[in-house]
Amino acid sequence: MIAAYAVAHSNIALAKYWGKANDELNLPAVPSLSMTLDALKTETTVVFDSSLPADVVNLNGFAVNGRPRDRVLELLDRVRQQSGITDPAHVTSRNNFKTASGLASSASGFAALALAATRAAGLDTSIAETSALARRSSASAARSLYGGFVKLDVGSEFASPVAPAAHFPLCMVIAVMAIGAKDVSSTDGMQATRESSPYYPAWLETAPQIYDVAMKAVLEADLEALGTALERSAMLMHASMIAASPSLVYWEPGSLAVMRAVKQLRRAGILAFYTMDAGPHVKIVTSPQDAEAVAILIRGVPGVQEVIVSKIGPDASVSVSSPDA
Ligand code: PMV
Repeated sequence: MIAAYAVAHSNIALAKYWGKANDELNLPAVPSLSMTLDALKTETTVVFDSSLPADVVNLNGFAVNGRPRDRVLELLDRVRQQSGITDPAHVTSRNNFKTASGLASSASGFAALALAATRAAGLDTSIAETSALARRSSASAARSLYGGFVKLDVGSEFASPVAPAAHFPLCMVIAVMAIGAKDVSSTDGMQATRESSPYYPAWLETAPQIYDVAMKAVLEADLEALGTALERSAMLMHASMIAASPSLVYWEPGSLAVMRAVKQLRRAGILAFYTMDAGPHVKIVTSPQDAEAVAILIRGVPGVQEVIVSKIGPDASVSVSSPDA
């Protein structure tokens, strides 16, 4: 019996993925570029154990049920199919941040699960193959296998690293809003946008152009160019979902107040830029020198519960032990 323990860090897209080209294979319709976060991580242990009557899935000390459990079992079943193992699995996972609220817990969660489950099954899966396995569960999870800046191209099964953190040291200041779990999952939100938003075709057309601009800015380590592109990517993505029927709005009053505060900072000469995902929290990209000043200002914005300052994070990692040995 092998116990595998994996750590994967969350990532936030600078050029967003929103919309699927293939629902069954979970392939994105647009390319995305992300930055892995040092401060937000998931730790997951997996053991396949013949003495268990059924799979056990535990997150932050509680049994996981319903759709979240089914998503974990789908990944485990793919690993069982590949490895020939038929035993139930014991999965224990812990996030050091709020789950399912737009802080990309599915990204770090499925990356850690894919890594731990393949190793616990004794598979010698490459990191690219592990990224593809994670992608089937959550496309953003494909990017969390790698540290630094990471891309997921259209038509690609797996994510790939673009540049290490040292190439362009940035910080992300995360304004965590005083609000719980999100009410519409990103999968449901993407489907609603594709089916009912007249702006979805415009999103599909512009997202790859913004991705190209953001990629160039990362390669040239140009914060102003990257910031302009990443705000535009987030705003265009949200515009496409706000135009869905029924309208999909993840913003809270506090989210808008943070966006305004970021613009004020820029007027004061600080290079800081915001992005948002499928939740109310606002993530601000800035330089390491300005991160503390940004955090101090954002802490005072009404509706902000907590501010997390993160550096760029490392590759996912895994270690394996054999309890029988
Ligand atoms: O991979 P999912 O299903 O959690 O979707 C992620 C969608 C966004 O976070 C909004 C954008 C992105 O590229 O991460």
